[in-house]
Amino acid sequence: MNKLIVGNWKMYPTLSDSVVLATSFKTALEDIKGVEVVLAPPSAWLISVKEAMKHPLTHVHLAAQNIWPDDQGAFTGEVSAYFLKDLVKYAIVGHSERRRNNKEGNEIISKKIEACLKWNVTPILCVGEKEKTIGEGSKINQEAWEETVEQFVSALHSIPKDKFGSIFVAYEPVWAIGYNKQADSDYVVSFISKLKEKAIEEFGAKASNDLRFIYGGSVSDTNCSDYLRRPEIEGFLIGTMSVRAKEFIDICRQAAAIK
Ligand code: PGA
Repeated sequence: MNKLIVGNWKMYPTLSDSVVLATSFKTALEDIKGVEVVLAPPSAWLISVKEAMKHPLTHVHLAAQNIWPDDQGAFTGEVSAYFLKDLVKYAIVGHSERRRNNKEGNEIISKKIEACLKWNVTPILCVGEKEKTIGEGSKINQEAWEETVEQFVSALHSIPKDKFGSIFVAYEPVWAIGYNKQADSDYVVSFISKLKEKAIEEFGAKASNDLRFIYGGSVSDTNCSDYLRRPEIEGFLIGTMSVRAKEFIDICRQAAAIK
């Protein structure tokens, strides 16, 4: 399966920056097949980015950085999956910045996943520990594991198992987010493998096998090859480098070259 490369533009680009980025990605990505690229601009710019990508490429899609679980109602400042369903194919859910800044808990995150699935928007569920507490070598620290697995299981426990094939899980250790703080690829692979085992225990082998796992945290054009070699890592959620056109395109090119 092609790797999924998600660019989370966060609140970095202005409207004009976003249009410029979308236009340059569209041109460059025309020749880069064998990868699925997802762009997540600030929600206010989604329509303009969509227009800038006119006649969109079949392997390039848009994502929302967040959604609200109810369809319509008195929710000032929020945008629902129902409202976004014709604009985006994906939605990021439970990003650590929202968990921290908006005090988002596992219960609402689970409802957001349900809302996405209801409207055929593919959720990208973010999970990961806050502190860097790696044990010897790439050993996973128990506290880090417990924190992450709680996010993982509680977000998914009420989701019908036959929907797991429409969900991506982004393992993003919070301490690795930013620039040049990436987690070692052995560590990421051990973490993903442990999450898959946990999913077998909680949800069964088929559901576990259906989930797709990507990694996020300081992914760049210079370190991505380390992760791309590992089949357990099925793509990236990229922040900083997603708004640097040359670097992001280079990551997509490297991901497309992996078979
Ligand atoms: P980063 O961000 O690539 O800048 O580490 C990743 C994220 O926050 O999703």
